[in-house]
Amino acid sequence: MAGQIPQDFIHDLLSRIDIIDVIDEHLPLRKAGRNHHALCPFHDEKTPSFTVSQEKQFYYCFGCGASGSAISFLMEHAHMGFVDAVSALAERAGLEIPNEPGAQRSQDHTPLYELLKRAANYYSRQLREYGVAGGAVDYLKSRGLSGNLAAEFGVGFAPSGWDNVLRALGSSDEVVADLVRTGLVIKKDEGGYYDRFRERIMFPIRDQRGRVVGFGGRVLGDGTPKYLNSPETPVFHKGRELYGLYEARQGVKDIHRLFVVEGYMDVLALAQFGVRNAVATLGTAITKEHVEHLFRVSPEMVFCFDGDVAGQSAAWRALELALPLLRDGRQASFLFMPEGEDPDSYIRKEGGAAFEDRGKAVPLSDFLFQTLSKRADLTSLDGRARLVEIAKPLISKLPEGGALQQLMHKHLAEIARIEPEFLTTIIKGGRQAQQGASNPRRGEGGSASPSLVRSAITLLLQEPTLATLVRDPSDFKDADVPGIGLLIEVIRLAQAKPDITCGAIVEHWRGTDEGRHLAKLAAVPHHLSEAGIKEEFSGAVKRILELRNRQRRETLLKIAPADLTTTQKQELRLLLAFSSPSEAGTTEEMEKLG
Ligand code: UTP
Ligand code: MN
Repeated sequence: MAGQIPQDFIHDLLSRIDIIDVIDEHLPLRKAGRNHHALCPFHDEKTPSFTVSQEKQFYYCFGCGASGSAISFLMEHAHMGFVDAVSALAERAGLEIPNEPGAQRSQDHTPLYELLKRAANYYSRQLREYGVAGGAVDYLKSRGLSGNLAAEFGVGFAPSGWDNVLRALGSSDEVVADLVRTGLVIKKDEGGYYDRFRERIMFPIRDQRGRVVGFGGRVLGDGTPKYLNSPETPVFHKGRELYGLYEARQGVKDIHRLFVVEGYMDVLALAQFGVRNAVATLGTAITKEHVEHLFRVSPEMVFCFDGDVAGQSAAWRALELALPLLRDGRQASFLFMPEGEDPDSYIRKEGGAAFEDRGKAVPLSDFLFQTLSKRADLTSLDGRARLVEIAKPLISKLPEGGALQQLMHKHLAEIARIEPEFLTTIIKGGRQAQQGASNPRRGEGGSASPSLVRSAITLLLQEPTLATLVRDPSDFKDADVPGIGLLIEVIRLAQAKPDITCGAIVEHWRGTDEGRHLAKLAAVPHHLSEAGIKEEFSGAVKRILELRNRQRRETLLKIAPADLTTTQKQELRLLLAFSSPSEAGTTEEMEKLG
């Protein structure tokens, strides 16, 4: 999605708008010193820790860790998708979003949306006119669905017959070709076309702007497949869309909590019982994109799953996806259905209160520890050590230093029966060991190197023009230090775009681990003078180069002199000549080379 808008355009856009104006429209800002401040809109607080820097074109909150560019602000605060946020800013800057040249030209899908809308109208008209005769109305009644709710969700009926939609909508060859692209009509191998959906109850799936993008169709009774869904099309992606989200946002102004269920009928049954804030995935496992989208809409998520093994493992997947997103102010829990029930049958038995009662849902942290405790024998010391081992990587997925992470550490220490301080040591040790493992050759002085790269990047984010001080970042490309690749890319980007701001750099890596890492570093305040920051940066770059040279020298010295190529010999001679005199063995090694 982001790939369709060229990066250059995003840079241009961000250089033409001012983040202060954008945020101030939503949230009045007060200037104090260099920065602007406000009460953070992303968590509850009494004194302002939300900070916007005009210079950096970046916002961050010291309380909850929220941070980003003007685009991120619109996505997080106004719940816009990436493309919508970019469009809104482009409109204000008077720019038009271009298409990516060559690759995947973003096509105009208007005719597809138009056809899908007409199809939805067609199906709901069929339900009104022939639904009684066709058995659809009786079926829906037997499932306890009111006419009003069916109308609100646009439920329809595809009558029996192979070419109803084809005849109703396919007015020309061009339109038929578009019908095939929407998935409503299928092209036969031997020529000719037929309707995909026949004799089914039709559930239109709407995107967040309310446009129909696809359908789910259920048989009236026991046939197979029970549900038929639209295939993936240019406008329909199952990994992105959620059934009922648009309707929930229409019905509830400010969504505080969302129930995530598995079926179309679950969403409808919950709505019928007044639980209007439920959404369903579309017959596929929940994706990262789903969970990110949902947390942009609501701070609390309740995942409803069957209590069986499949439900537990689906819930575990949701847990893993939710962890990195659980910054302060957000929460997730799990509501497991009793055996043999799904949310639809459960709410019909127990009523809406069963869903509103928070006591019935298992908080994410409890689910995590309960599941892990089953995998380790907590009565033995070994078992408790194993628990710590398997919990560690999960807890470290949570936003660093957030309240939930701290509570989970504390809780882990309690059930593992170890001192919290000791646990902190183990976890820190684990992190260092991980870094060490990816970088086995890190020698003396190397232990300072990750922080060296980190500080070079942090300084660059403060002052992107520092990049001009580096002659060619490829010089240290084979330094074996975590993060070096990212440092080189940031330098290259800032060299190519001399007016780039911190916000635009972070934006460049949207949606990636690098982006999250950069956002954290961007929020680090500095107290250096202009001269100081230059000196600090040059120093870091110089030390990285030295480290690279030392590593290269060590590598070449491991090769027997006879096996070195001429170029390698020359390189080694240079490396030895320029290494500091304090390093022993230098002259001796030189002599060996002859
Ligand atoms: P369920 O079988 O739990 O469906 O599948 P349900 O919503 O409870 O349906 P009813 O109550 O029997 O009418 C959950 C979801 O999995 C997908 C659909 O999205 C369904 O809502 N599914 C299921 C399919 O895509 N195809 C199928 O054949 C079955
Ligand atoms: Mn069901």
